[in-house]
Amino acid sequence: MAGNAIGLGNFLRFPRLAAQYGGGAFMIPYLIALLLLGIPLMWLEWSMGRMGGRYGHGTTVGMFGRLCNRPAARLLGTLGVSLPLLFVVFYTYIESWTLAYSWYSAVDAHGTSASSPGELAPPVRGVNAPLLRAMLAGHDEDHDQRLSQSEWTGPGGAFAELDRNGDQIVAAAEMQPVLNPLANAHTYRFLREYQGAAPPGERTYFHSLLPAAGFWLLSVGINVWIISRGISGGVERLARVAMPLLFVFAVALAIRVLTLGAPDPARPENSVWAGLNYIWEPNFAALADFGVWLAAAGQIFFTLSIGTGTIQCYASYLRPDDDCALTGLTTAATNEFAEVVLGATIAIPVSVAVFGLANTQAIASQGSFDLGFVAMPLIFEQMPLGRLFATLWFALLFFAGVTSSVGLCQPMMAFLQEEIRLTRRCAAGVCGALIMALGLPILLWFGHGYMDQYDFWVGTFGLAVFALLEVIAFAWIYGSDGMWRELTHGAQISIPRLVRPVIKYVVPGYLMVLLAGWTYQSWGEAIRLEDVPIEDQPYLWRARWSIILVIAGVAGLAAWATRVYPPASDRSVS
Ligand code: ALA
Repeated sequence: MAGNAIGLGNFLRFPRLAAQYGGGAFMIPYLIALLLLGIPLMWLEWSMGRMGGRYGHGTTVGMFGRLCNRPAARLLGTLGVSLPLLFVVFYTYIESWTLAYSWYSAVDAHGTSASSPGELAPPVRGVNAPLLRAMLAGHDEDHDQRLSQSEWTGPGGAFAELDRNGDQIVAAAEMQPVLNPLANAHTYRFLREYQGAAPPGERTYFHSLLPAAGFWLLSVGINVWIISRGISGGVERLARVAMPLLFVFAVALAIRVLTLGAPDPARPENSVWAGLNYIWEPNFAALADFGVWLAAAGQIFFTLSIGTGTIQCYASYLRPDDDCALTGLTTAATNEFAEVVLGATIAIPVSVAVFGLANTQAIASQGSFDLGFVAMPLIFEQMPLGRLFATLWFALLFFAGVTSSVGLCQPMMAFLQEEIRLTRRCAAGVCGALIMALGLPILLWFGHGYMDQYDFWVGTFGLAVFALLEVIAFAWIYGSDGMWRELTHGAQISIPRLVRPVIKYVVPGYLMVLLAGWTYQSWGEAIRLEDVPIEDQPYLWRARWSIILVIAGVAGLAAWATRVYPPASDRSVS
């Protein structure tokens, strides 16, 4: 379960969000979401899964059917199969980058003699803020007055402001180094070329997508091989090796970072302590920003794998009297240790120590992956034994990723075996074929933002919707008495009574506010695709249609299976 939870979210997504949303400002809504959403939902999913397992159900299809006793509930339960499948499609692609980068770091493929911190654009604050100010001043003084300090330091915001109001007074190429301090770094070009996102005429490292495709196929193959060996023969064996290794690598990296101090004597303010201080110093003023609450709750879902149907699937293998309360809490605690203690101690402090705080924020604002894939290799190049630590960093990410992705495959595996009656090997083959068919467009159209649609609709919105359905099915339709009985049965700790009303009222209320907030905030850009270049829009629509087709296809398959193999009322589980 810890392997399932601890993943790329802990070491890539969390530091990026924490840096982008103001460090200590992010941690307060994050911890509130952990207490009010994460842990209660973790318990709910564990107990739902154990209960389903008692009746021979390994997926939320059968579980929802049993909880609600209605055929329509089985169809809604198919989201707990289609969402993790869609999730693993984009997840394995990023996972394949980590495998590739571990290899490239070991052979020093992206390290060049040209590398030096001098490649960085000057810091955003100080040199560039006045430059931006001067660029705007001649054109719209009122607008200039309105721009706040945070808009200067939030590059995306400043760029959008310029774009909207400046009538292209600043060319994008001119703006890029200002807004992205890594834009000229060779590791930036390396990543863009690897992704196939660099213009063909400007390539030096990669001239085709073949290396990316090769590492991606290898990653999918590793996943399929593991899931084809089953839960105890494949997933548990992997976790027994990968999880301890992951912790050893993470602790080694964290110690290396903590001993870095302030590497540039001329800039004593750039230190690991400044980075840690940034994450841990509470900032209550930022709580007024709704966006931070949304991002923090989204991260809790992503990192704990809540709303994906995977926790229920794993928990269905418990015995009826096994504990859910302590083990559920332990899963969350282990994940949080990996995330806020180890994850937060690596990427942000080292980046602040080398690039400074303003640049670290600017890098984090560029997107999910630049901090991990562009800044970290650049930093390692400047350290003694840097190649070794870079290889460890990406190997750590790969181990974290693969223990999560095999978990995300399990609901589909269980569905194909239980509902469609395929053998395990056959189910693993079908799973692999689906991941490849759905993942190929991500590989080919990454530069058009195809994957971002998956990240938003599946990895953010879909998880919250499904979590809401779970609470309705278990705490409202099945009833909170039954839910509470299930949760406390066999418990090795006593769960405070307060948790019951939290699950019944607070969690769905919180989720509805979040979903409304997301819809409101994303209406223009993520939903209506305003500001998305017209040439990219067809690709994004294809991504949306593929998501809809998968959700409808799995629901259709479940409806067919219900007719052909009516669900057994009570199958015993060994
Ligand atoms: N929970 C997994 C992660 O954090 C998906 O990456």
